[in-house]
Amino acid sequence: MRYRIFLAGFLAAMNLAASEIDLDALKKDYRRPTDIPQNPDNPLTPESIELGRKLFFEPRISASGLMSCASCHNPSLNWEDGLPTGVGHGHQKLSRSTPTILNAAWNQANFWDGRAETLEEQALGPIAAAGEMNMPLDKMLEVLHAIPGYEELFAEAYPGEGITEETVAKAIANFERTVVSNEAPFDQWIKGDEEAISETAKRGFALFNTKARCSLCHSGWNFSDSSFHDIGLKTDDKGRGGFLGFESMNHFFKTPTLRNVAERAPYMHNGSEATLHDTMELYNKGGRVKRDTLSGDIRPLNLDTDEIEAIIEFLKTLSSDDSEMHMPRLPTLIAAEN
Ligand code: HEC
Ligand code: HEC
Repeated sequence: MRYRIFLAGFLAAMNLAASEIDLDALKKDYRRPTDIPQNPDNPLTPESIELGRKLFFEPRISASGLMSCASCHNPSLNWEDGLPTGVGHGHQKLSRSTPTILNAAWNQANFWDGRAETLEEQALGPIAAAGEMNMPLDKMLEVLHAIPGYEELFAEAYPGEGITEETVAKAIANFERTVVSNEAPFDQWIKGDEEAISETAKRGFALFNTKARCSLCHSGWNFSDSSFHDIGLKTDDKGRGGFLGFESMNHFFKTPTLRNVAERAPYMHNGSEATLHDTMELYNKGGRVKRDTLSGDIRPLNLDTDEIEAIIEFLKTLSSDDSEMHMPRLPTLIAAEN
């Protein structure tokens, strides 16, 4: 795990007022990266990405034949499902909300509790999970072998490796790496276009980095420190603490990206905050529940209504138009006969 000290976090920790900061210096922390991080054991190739795109949208690798990764991570809903918590096989309600896969290439850990380190490690879990796609992995391989067309696609993407659990995971992971949020008005402002966002949003950004303390955790261009915290939600879920078996980390969850956040309600691992206004109320109070595990960085903020509106106005500038995603055509029996 990499830890970086951002100027933004430092300013927030100093408790500076929004008017006291040098916005230009701060903006350097938020520049978009130029390259997508890759897994050296699974280089990004056009063939692996296209195969992964097909598998991500492939419902036939679920027990019902109806559910794909995209059923829950729906590109039309910013790669989420718009529900408080996910709904899986047989309409089972899951206990956690579906996170977006936008910018997942930058994840240093996956799942709300961080239990999968890489996207490759993550990818097979939901296929086999009884509550999600409910498809035993040996059965998944049988299904893929039986659909003419997949053999060739795997041979092009991973020559000599065949259709295996590993190649399925690698292809899906590589497709996910290409799901990157496009340039938003915020990015245009960071690049120097002063007209790209409103003066209110600029004030909101300054507050985000100072009095409101958000940047202590939502840091960098993707607005996540890739770390885990208890922000004081009402929840029985132990999160990171449950996974690691450390009580001191109970109710710690991964800091989510804030990209496209205005379009991704409801919020949090349990979908407990319906709107951005609710979320701001939670932070302004210093959390809904006080307990030993509550982060020391969560405390009453004394933001007034104008300041809250300015922060929300700023958050809206993080939304990009990601509409040009293309749907894959899946190999079918009919295509094979022609
Ligand atoms: C039934 C709904 C559902 C389906 C189907 C589903 N997911 Fe998920 N996904 C979730 C939920 C809920 C979580 C969070 C679970 C947790 O944190 O314990 C999640 C978490 C993830 C994450 C972690 C994101 C992060 O930021 O930590 C990735 C990546 C992901 N899913 C990819 C996939 C892929 C790939 C597939 C298909 C093979 C898939 N999902 C199928 C609901 C679903
Ligand atoms: C101590 C670290 C920390 C601070 C400070 C912090 N956050 Fe968060 N934020 C998190 C974590 C962790 C979550 C996920 C919590 C959960 O689901 O249990 C989160 C979730 C969110 C979400 C929901 C996103 C989603 O996809 O569901 C929003 C919106 C948000 N924070 C905005 C803010 C704003 C605005 C501020 C400043 C007022 C702020 N945060 C301050 C760590 C922090």
